[in-house]
Amino acid sequence: MDIQLIQQDIFRLKKEKNAVILAHYYQVPEVQDIADHVGDSFALSKLAAELPEPLIVFCGVSFMAETAKILSPEKTVLLPVADAGCPMADMVTAKDVLDLKRRHPDAAVVSYVNSSTEIKALSDICCTSSNAVKVIRSLPHKKIIFLPDENLGSYAAEQIPEKEFVLFKGFCPVHEEVQPIDVKLTRDKNPGALFAVHPECRADVRKEADFIGSTGQIIDFIKRTDHPNFIVGTEMGILHPIISQNPTKKIVSLTPNFICPNMKKTRLINVLESLQQMKQMIELDDTIIEMSRKPLFKMLEAS
Ligand code: 13P
Ligand code: SF4
Repeated sequence: MDIQLIQQDIFRLKKEKNAVILAHYYQVPEVQDIADHVGDSFALSKLAAELPEPLIVFCGVSFMAETAKILSPEKTVLLPVADAGCPMADMVTAKDVLDLKRRHPDAAVVSYVNSSTEIKALSDICCTSSNAVKVIRSLPHKKIIFLPDENLGSYAAEQIPEKEFVLFKGFCPVHEEVQPIDVKLTRDKNPGALFAVHPECRADVRKEADFIGSTGQIIDFIKRTDHPNFIVGTEMGILHPIISQNPTKKIVSLTPNFICPNMKKTRLINVLESLQQMKQMIELDDTIIEMSRKPLFKMLEAS
């Protein structure tokens, strides 16, 4: 089917059904281009809670669509590709959290939104990569259990030395892959470039960075910084908005392999089919929604 026809059908159905399309920055350009809002996890979860449309098509991975559903249970939330998941979110189990709580009863459990609904329900507060430091600082607890991302947790621990951290050893397979040698090689090819990196990268890679932040924060950093060239240390999808917003700056990816296969599963045709067939509808148990709402709303308040 012709791409323009798919786009037209998406726009028509979106209007007919009073839907809003949200897309993460890691989505393929064709999907970002038809979205009503493109953002990072935090911006999108805030939007999901605030937007008036009763139907949300969430182009991202499952934990993001579930977060939207938890924040707005009265809305219908569709995830165009059912098996677009996040391997990091699957690394931690409820048993892991309960064991950690038992071993550290005085600690607050802070869960990165890249986690299952069940894990959120067992947490004191959630965070995203853009607000982890702020969220943790807002807590009275001296001890923090952080999960599932060890890299984001260690980044937060570096910023908040006055607190004690118990870090779960989860990781994003896409960000964990990147090594300091990639930074050296890309810097050699791009002399003088500023290097902006996502906190899901390892500490030895973050150490090389000129800026560390979420996808949204990296985009803002590059936009507001008067500099001719940048190296971007996160998933390639983010290059689409950065290049279009900064036509005179040279923007390169840290490595050509910086691709999240799950984020790349969603194509225009999936968005169209999702709207046509109202699939894949996110359905969550009322009790789990009730339990996981609290840590998510606490996060929104704290940030
Ligand atoms: P952001 O918080 O920057 O949106 O990142 C989400 C994510 O999945 C990174 O891998
Ligand atoms: Fe999960 Fe990593 Fe993909 Fe983000 S980039 S959705 S953390 S696998």
